[in-house]
Amino acid sequence: MDKVDKINQAITRFYQGKQAVSEHLIAAIRYSAEAGGKRIRPLLLLELLEAFSVTLTDSHYDVAAALEMIHTGSLIHDDLPAMDNDDYRRGRLTNHKKFDEATAILAGDSLFLDAFALIAETNLSANIKVDLMHCLSHSSGTFGMVGGQMLDMKAEGQELALTDLQEIHRHKTGCLLAYPFWAAAKIADVDEEILLDLYQAGLKVGHAFQVRDDILDVTADFTNLGKTPQKDLTAEKMTYPRLLGLDESYRVLNEDIDQSIAILEALRNKLILKPDNIICLIERLRLNA
Ligand code: IPE
Ligand code: IPE
Ligand code: MG
Ligand code: MG
Ligand code: MG
Repeated sequence: MDKVDKINQAITRFYQGKQAVSEHLIAAIRYSAEAGGKRIRPLLLLELLEAFSVTLTDSHYDVAAALEMIHTGSLIHDDLPAMDNDDYRRGRLTNHKKFDEATAILAGDSLFLDAFALIAETNLSANIKVDLMHCLSHSSGTFGMVGGQMLDMKAEGQELALTDLQEIHRHKTGCLLAYPFWAAAKIADVDEEILLDLYQAGLKVGHAFQVRDDILDVTADFTNLGKTPQKDLTAEKMTYPRLLGLDESYRVLNEDIDQSIAILEALRNKLILKPDNIICLIERLRLNA
């Protein structure tokens, strides 16, 4: 079984292993959680752990699944009429279109909160679990993804500076993509200095990821995206193509990728990790103009 299957299995295991309060709510959660998606955040965590020569266990898959649950919840809420108002996600109708708005709001709430129970229940030391939950909350809540989503909504139709756009992207997307770098370093129990270096690499990857998403909104079609293209344009979203144009956006994307890989290569040279597979994953984010 490959890593993506095992991530999916960890999410399903969490919901199947309990007495349902509302089958309808669980159906809505599973509709979005089991719709596919690239699973890049959990894959980064698992590849980073292996780069530190950690042997993967079900517990690592649980942490990876918890991260994916928060991300999926963020997508359900991001698509709501009060937010980006999207009809398609991961190649199928958005949660509120398939079910209804109240159900979609509650499915998102569940995924945000259930993620912490999943980590709490897994078989890692209590100290590590508290650290993992603390950083996951910080990366997803008021000081991370949710904070960034607030900035993103406020920025619609506004003319902002590049530093403002960087701030939006770092929070709405960067923090959750940097989380696996921090979490892997924590689980592998490496020195603080290495953890901070890795976190910087993660923030670069996270920024690259949102720049890439902004570019694809302009350049890709529904079949490739699984969501409606050109949405940012109509909503007058603050994006890289809008602020800097497409050519410069490609340049920023590649520069972020180069910088994150340079950090990983420096750690390889110090014999701290073997980053071949993570570098492969990051390289796949490049786009050609
Ligand atoms: C989409 O995330 C939202 C952004 C943060 C850009 P992904 O591109 O990771 O979406 P899935 O999980 O593959 O559907
Ligand atoms: C979403 O950014 C970031 C999240 C926190 C979900 P977008 O609004 O650009 O993501 P898509 O394009 O709808 O996937
Ligand atoms: Mg959005
Ligand atoms: Mg959106
Ligand atoms: Mg987008």
